Parts: sequence; structure tokens; C-alpha cells
Amino acid sequence: MFLRNGWYCAGWSGELSEAPIGRRMLGEQVMVFRGDDGAPVALEGRCPHRFAPLHLGTIEHERITCPYHGLVFDRGGACIHNPHGDVPKDAKLRSYPVVERDGIIWVWMGDPEQVDPDAIIDGSFVVDPGYATVLGYLNVAAHYQLVIDNLLDLTHPAILHKGGLSSEEYMGPNLEHRFHQEGTAIHSDYTFANVNPSPGLAPLWGKRKSDVRAFMTLHMPTNLVLDFRMNEVDGPMDEGLFLPTLHLLVPENEERTHYFYAMGRNAQVDNEELSAITAKMARHAFENEDEPMIVACQEMMGTTDLFSLKPILLKSDVAAVRARILMDRLIAKEAAEAGLAREVAPA
Ligand code: FES
Ligand SMILES: [Fe+2]
Repeated sequence: MFLRNGWYCAGWSGELSEAPIGRRMLGEQVMVFRGDDGAPVALEGRCPHRFAPLHLGTIEHERITCPYHGLVFDRGGACIHNPHGDVPKDAKLRSYPVVERDGIIWVWMGDPEQVDPDAIIDGSFVVDPGYATVLGYLNVAAHYQLVIDNLLDLTHPAILHKGGLSSEEYMGPNLEHRFHQEGTAIHSDYTFANVNPSPGLAPLWGKRKSDVRAFMTLHMPTNLVLDFRMNEVDGPMDEGLFLPTLHLLVPENEERTHYFYAMGRNAQVDNEELSAITAKMARHAFENEDEPMIVACQEMMGTTDLFSLKPILLKSDVAAVRARILMDRLIAKEAAEAGLAREVAPA
């Protein structure tokens, strides 16, 4: 079960061309490409005849030819040509609302009647020349809620990422955690007072102690924004190093998760050596430390139903638990509304 009415990242602007990208999102095969006007188009990526992957077909002037028996579809998803005879009346691909903003391709996976472009999160630092930004992608062999758990509970970096992105100083009495919910946004705010920079952050900060804040927010359905700042001890909170980070998750299905990340830096934006260090640090933490741990936990669990295993709960789980409760509630509400809409629809 997935929350459908929401914006999911289908990729970065830079990777999209006229050649289609095929991606399974929420269990559905989606194909995204640029139309002749340069705007992104998102269509069902599975041919309705024998279910061939359409992104492997040919595309010419927004017309996609299925690689199996050659049905041709237009950018609206209508079948417009059958090389073997009449055009089948019911051959139509689902078309998804799509918005390109901040260098991100956003696809609305739910009811097109409820599409809401204002609900797209602010990722403007990705295209802001005032930031140097590194982009990345992982495919995680785990349920998406385990990835959300990981991101909302930032007690793990002091253990899992020590020696790199974090250190053992980023816990214990130096740490303060606050959780709050605003509408459907879950905030998990961490502050660390008077700490030495971790080995990974030292070249970026370039000084000794700092105050650090790491405010993680989950925006439904599965988009997380980290407001990470390092400032002079007891100094103003907004004048130091700012490393805003996006973690854009997309359930591929119940067992796998697409994980797009973007990490910006507001200091020395033309320093390519520093950009390489930032990219390496992000990749190492997310790909070599978080991903294998999440996947190992998923394997150990043997189920996607966390609570069926009666996990021990720690104080630091508050945001992740709240996120799971909220997600379940929103999915149930959406399913109830869809059921109601079916009931009242004329026969
Ligand atoms: S599977 Fe696409 S035309 Fe047959
Ligand atoms: Fe992590």
C-alpha cells in the first residue's frame, strides 16, 4: 500500500532527454521523456498489448513505438497506429501529471483531479548558483519506511557514520532533540552544542568547535529535507556553513526504494576540490554505510511489517513512529475516499 496523492521524484532534470527513462514507481511502470517542446512527459511504461517495457522502444517526435509488435502511442498516451491492422480502441496508456522544478522531475502518482503543484517541496538550492550541489542516486533493497526511519532518527550517525560524516561527539549531553508535527510534515530537529567537526566535515568547516543543527523534515509522501548548519559557538544560527540536503524517496515496490539525494554547500562554491570531498563524503555515508545497514535490517526482519516484530522503542524513535502512524492514516483515508468515489459513481 502506498500513498498515491503526492509528488514523487522521477529523476533529475539533467538525466532527462527525448530518450525515455523507465522507472517502476509505487509498483507501476512509468516512462518519462522530454516532448518536442522540452517539457517532461510521464506515461504508463507498460504496453497494454503484451506488457512490453515501452522505454525500450523507439521514440520519434513524441511518438513511442512498442519494441515488441509495434503499436504506436502519442504523448497523451493514445494508441495512434497499429502496423498490423485497426487501431485497438482500448489501447491507452495512463498519463501522469508531471512538473519540472528546481532541477527535479516530479510525478503525481494519484488522482489527477487532486493534483496540487503547491505541494511540491522547495528544492531551490539545487539550481541556485549560490550553492555547489552534488546529486546522487541509490536503489535500496528495502521497504521505503525503513529508509524514512533511518533519516528521521539522527542518533545513528554518531555510531554508523563516525569517522566520516559524524563522530561520537555528536551524541550524549551535546545533543538535543525536538519533535513536532505541522499538518502532515514531521519535524525531527537535532542540535549539537559546542562540538568539534567530524572528520568528514572538518575540511568544509575549516575551524575548530561549532554549534550544529540538523533539522530533518519529512514531507508526505516520502520527501525529506535536511537543514544542516554549522555556526560559531553561541553565534548567530544563520551565518555559518549551510549544507541543505534533499532525500527524495520513491517506493519502487514493497521491497525496493529509489533514493535520490542532493547535498548543497553555500561556502566556496567554486572550489572543485571541496565539491569532490563533499560528493565523496555523501556517497560514502549513504551508499557504504546507510544502505548496507538498512538492507541488512530488512533481511534480518524478514517482513516489511516492523511492528509485527514488536521492536524495542527508544526515545529517539518518536518521529519515525509518528511518521508511520501518519502514513498509515493517510493511506487508509485515501483508500476510503477512493472506495467512496467508486460507490457514488454512476453505474
Ligand atoms: S507488447 Fe506492445 S505491441 Fe505487443
Ligand atoms: Fe545515515
